[in-house]
Amino acid sequence: MSLKDKNILLGISGGIAAYKIPILIRLLKKQGANVRVVVTEAATRFVTELTLSTLSQEPVCKDIFPDSFSTRDDWTRHISMGEWADAYAIAPATANTIAKLTAGVCDDMLSASFITLRPNKPRLIFPAMDGEMFSSASVQRNLSWLSQNGCTIINPESGDLASGQCGKGRMPEPEAIANIIDEAVKDKSHDSKLCGKSVVITAGPTREKIDDVRFISNYSSGKMGFALAAAAVARGAGVTLITGPVHLPTPDGVDRLDVESTEEMDLAAKQHYRSCDIFIGAAAVADYRPANHVAGKIKKNSKTMEINLVRNPDVLTGFSKQKTLHQLAVGFCLETEGNLQNAREKLTQKKLDLVAYNTFDGKTSGFEVDTNILTLIDKNLEIHELPLLSKKEAAERMLNVIEELISSDKKTSDE
Ligand code: CTP
Repeated sequence: MSLKDKNILLGISGGIAAYKIPILIRLLKKQGANVRVVVTEAATRFVTELTLSTLSQEPVCKDIFPDSFSTRDDWTRHISMGEWADAYAIAPATANTIAKLTAGVCDDMLSASFITLRPNKPRLIFPAMDGEMFSSASVQRNLSWLSQNGCTIINPESGDLASGQCGKGRMPEPEAIANIIDEAVKDKSHDSKLCGKSVVITAGPTREKIDDVRFISNYSSGKMGFALAAAAVARGAGVTLITGPVHLPTPDGVDRLDVESTEEMDLAAKQHYRSCDIFIGAAAVADYRPANHVAGKIKKNSKTMEINLVRNPDVLTGFSKQKTLHQLAVGFCLETEGNLQNAREKLTQKKLDLVAYNTFDGKTSGFEVDTNILTLIDKNLEIHELPLLSKKEAAERMLNVIEELISSDKKTSDE
């Protein structure tokens, strides 16, 4: 029973399917979950706060500014709710609420708690509405955006609708919703081949100093490396994340080492060569650094200026060249206009077990954005083509392939 002692936040928006939620609360409570409920104003037209509060044994939250403030927590509840939840299920999710979640509007408790939910927690969206509304271009566009940005969309079922018509739009029954939530919060670490493995991940950009106030760097945000770190910890791995300067919170359970230059990253990585089982180079490492770092600030005394650059050490290759048979090296190959052949060459040149060919289009794939398009090539030259995914989902798929490699290596060594 994965739900035991899990904190489940239920967000109810104003659709007729809200009548099913009291039953869902009972099912979740029966399985030992702690349940808190947030409602929109419209939801209270379909189900009363009294019913929801009685069954969840918690006060129901609706307004960001409640009528009275008895404790400090009363006006920061949208933050504490998001921090408290192990999973957030929004059921039913109306077209209006879906649009708000997509746009980042947070004018009520339901939408504000959605934004404050910890990044690695499941966000489950159960759209329920009339069939025509569900298939409308705007709802489909919004659902597709949410799906690409870390939410799981549970498509409605077909059947009788409140409009009297028959079509797609019915929210699943409470038993099915409880099962989906149960699956989402399940601790998958015991089944994972990564459980107990030591994983080192480099992430973010590096900065190469020109003088004391300027540097050479790139647009890497670190999101892909951080997503891999969070996903690997969830599978029971011990994760060391060596990161260049980024603006991201450290995923729970990850051991983070902050570095600035490539040489610092290389030094930190070397400390883990022996102990790590899997090394993932997700950092966008600067290939060159200024030959001389000028103390102070360079003055503009001439019309042109030259900076002499020297090659940086290759952090990933440093690891892969000396790794033992049981260690895995994984790298990325970012291309603006290249093709898979470059990635295949990188796999061989850098002695990798897996390379992620990363399309860079500046909009949906590459630096800074939350989505990515990867094609994975493993050491057996098997190709795993992934569609446009959130970086979170792309990280999960990469780890699945890494787990397959661990299994096949084990089989080979057992034979
Ligand atoms: N890498 C590294 N240290 C470097 C350069 C790259 O660890 N000094 C790692 C990156 O983290 C990534 C992979 O190697 O996993 C990328 O290799 P790289 O040769 O830099 O590839 P691209 O930049 O994609 O290709 P190129 O420079 O050949 O255009």
